[in-house]
Amino acid sequence: MSTGTAGTAGGGDGRPIVIVGASLGGAKAAEALRAAGYRGGVVLIGDEHERPYERPPLSKGYLLGKTPREKIYVHPPQWYAEHDVTLRLGTAVVAVDPAAHTVRLADDGRIEYAKLLLTTGSVPRRLPVPGAEQEGVLYLRRVDDCDRIKAALRPGARVVVIGAGWIGLETAAAARTAGAEVTVLEAAELPLLRVLGREVAQVFADLHRDHGVELRFDVRVEELTGEGGRVTGVRLADGATVPADVVIVGIGIAPDTALAEAAGLTVDNGIKTDEHLRTSDPDVYAAGDAANAYHPLFGRHLRVEHWANALNQPQTAARAMLGEDAVHDRVPYFFTDQYDLGMEYTGYVEPGGYDGVVFRGDVRANEFIAFWLKDGRVLAGMNMNIWDVTDPIRELIVSKRVVDPDRLTDPNVALGEV
Ligand SMILES: Cc1cc2nc3c(=O)[nH]c(=O)nc-3n(C[C@H](O)[C@H](O)[C@H](O)COP(=O)(O)OP(=O)(O)OC[C@H]3O[C@@H](n4cnc5c(N)ncnc54)[C@H](O)[C@@H]3O)c2cc1C
Ligand SMILES: NC(=O)c1ccc[n+]([C@@H]2O[C@H](COP(=O)([O-])OP(=O)(O)OC[C@H]3O[C@@H](n4cnc5c(N)ncnc54)[C@H](O)[C@@H]3O)[C@@H](O)[C@H]2O)c1
Repeated sequence: MSTGTAGTAGGGDGRPIVIVGASLGGAKAAEALRAAGYRGGVVLIGDEHERPYERPPLSKGYLLGKTPREKIYVHPPQWYAEHDVTLRLGTAVVAVDPAAHTVRLADDGRIEYAKLLLTTGSVPRRLPVPGAEQEGVLYLRRVDDCDRIKAALRPGARVVVIGAGWIGLETAAAARTAGAEVTVLEAAELPLLRVLGREVAQVFADLHRDHGVELRFDVRVEELTGEGGRVTGVRLADGATVPADVVIVGIGIAPDTALAEAAGLTVDNGIKTDEHLRTSDPDVYAAGDAANAYHPLFGRHLRVEHWANALNQPQTAARAMLGEDAVHDRVPYFFTDQYDLGMEYTGYVEPGGYDGVVFRGDVRANEFIAFWLKDGRVLAGMNMNIWDVTDPIRELIVSKRVVDPDRLTDPNVALGEV
């Protein structure tokens, strides 16, 4: 392992390792570099003004007022100085020059790098309809977005959520919990359809209906109506208008590949990397939401838009930048909390890429594990209000062994023995 005091790993030649994007991914990369014993310079650059924080609480505990602000941060404020990490906040990188090994800042300053890591994350897709830029139309990505939404979630407020994905459903749950009247408008037939498929998507539809959310599927939003520059409703293609005091838009994200593209790196559904998180330039790496990384277990590139990926990939990238033969081959994992329901999902299934779903446990009581199967093998498992099962689920996926579906659904058979 390199200590970074010599050789090509960075620091040895006086140039730092530069990380662009100061969120979970960037902060974890800086931490991993120090944990690996690297003693050269680390510069972490972010265009937000907050020090690196985690986004999951923004649609859950922090939005609900249960998680205090100081709990959202990746590290305490003094951590950066204590670990000799130069944190440059409120600073946008506007260009990367791979040949010169420099990044250019918005103020035209330049920083040289030995290795560069792009953890630029992703940006919300904007709603492409008339009226969408009015006051009261809110997106959720950053902590100040969350503060605006939080202020709008009042008892009796008419909240319309566009998109029944993770943002839409988690904010709908928070809005109902705050006593708002909530309508969710989704273009597809069911919530989370692309990720979960019909069988399990239905569980989330039922959950929200049971909590008094009005769900409308197969809708086409045509316009956001308004008065005096403030949104008043959502007009649909069928002519109906849903009145709204506030509209929350959660219609997906796009990986932030602007810098990479302009720098001539290979970009295809994210910044393309190998299993070491190295891009098409040998001294530039990418991780987190922005990276479309080759995954050895699946034998293909995969871009994962979830917390655990932004937590773990940068650790591999950091070690690879230091010259180790580090490979990212973790099985994707994510979680959600909505109302009193907690769920974890382990695995990866392409839309429609399974031939059956089986359940172990009590689906009506929301206490079950769902398994997605293909040719008798487990592709993914989702445990709902059941805990401490992600290790055996992961083992079933990684082993790629054919399982007996009767034993898989029998709660009396240990998962390791199906
Ligand atoms: C509200 C919300 C709730 C979520 N909840 C969950 C959850 O419950 N479970 C789960 O698994 N996942 C969840 N996610 C997803 C998870 O937060 C993301 O996968 C994760 O934030 C990705 O981290 P990242 O570091 O790759 O990118 P990001 O968090 O997007 O950070 C990228 C950073 O880079 C900065 N940046 C971009 N370009 C530049 C530039 N040129 N110069 C300087 N800075 C730049 C951006 O401003 C940003 O600060 C949630 C996301 C959101 C928005
Ligand atoms: N628990 C979690 O893992 C979690 C929680 C919050 C956010 N996130 C992440 O945040 C990002 C953004 O989440 P998201 O919910 O915006 O994206 P998403 O991709 O999960 O869902 C977007 C939804 O919007 C629908 N949609 C798209 N265009 C529409 C339109 N014009 N009208 C109505 N519906 C439309 C899609 O069919 C889809 O159901 C994702 O990367 C997500 O993984 C994750």
